[in-house]
Amino acid sequence: MAEFTLPKNSKITKKGKAHPAPAGATRTKSFKVYRYDPDSGENPRYDTYEVDLDSCGPMVLDALIKIKSEQDSTLTFRRSCREGICGSCSMNMAGTNGLACTTTIEDLKGEVRITPLPHMDVIKDLVPDFTHFYAQYASIEPWLKTKTPAPAGKERLQSPEDRSKLDGLYECILCACCSTSCPSYWWNSDKFLGPAILLQAYRWLADSRDEYTGERLDDLEDPFRLYRCHTIMNCANVCPKGLSPAKAIAETKKMLVERAV
Ligand code: SF4
Ligand code: SF4
Ligand code: FES
Repeated sequence: MAEFTLPKNSKITKKGKAHPAPAGATRTKSFKVYRYDPDSGENPRYDTYEVDLDSCGPMVLDALIKIKSEQDSTLTFRRSCREGICGSCSMNMAGTNGLACTTTIEDLKGEVRITPLPHMDVIKDLVPDFTHFYAQYASIEPWLKTKTPAPAGKERLQSPEDRSKLDGLYECILCACCSTSCPSYWWNSDKFLGPAILLQAYRWLADSRDEYTGERLDDLEDPFRLYRCHTIMNCANVCPKGLSPAKAIAETKKMLVERAV
């Protein structure tokens, strides 16, 4: 489990606001939510919202949407699919990174603290800045790269066995829950690619149709880009899709060793 750390520009000095549940609510849950608006010039704060669970869906995202609709329209967060597919509702809930749309309120005991993903710059409230993360993703050239001409009139085919090598990789939704729970990424994210991007890099190394394996390995063979992973395993423990970036990183290191002998 990821150790809880506040977002980068966090210094909680301002007293938060309390939003009580509506009169008559009998089954309520308290959410302590990180609030930060750089345009206000004020320090971040935690606001507390009492949510009536009898008129709320089962997931943390349901509670956030209810808060925004009924208690405080200024609360800002990302979401789209509400199915664990788009990766946009990743945040830290009760000290653990996850997707708000697939995290059940009932599983979180007591008052639930919600913050943006740890160690990211924050744009507003629960919205982290993914600019650097996406630039790192672009740097691994995440598309099929070939040298031979495409076969005439048909796709580049792959055997079922080769296709199965992408299982456990293609499902990644780039939510960054893993990278932002990785201590190595917290301290070296300027140079270390982090578990999410390294899993994506391996996804192309593992693809039988890709013809740039050597160049891709050259690009990763670097004391920081790849080798800052110290196999702490937070990434695999926290992935909401059940993937193991640590395993993908180990496979990449193995490929580098094998080509050296
Ligand atoms: S490996 Fe898992 S936690 Fe990491 S970005 Fe992909 S889906 Fe999210
Ligand atoms: S296994 Fe590597 S990438 Fe995953 S959390 Fe640990 S150091 Fe980070
Ligand atoms: S809203 Fe798409 S993953 Fe949660």
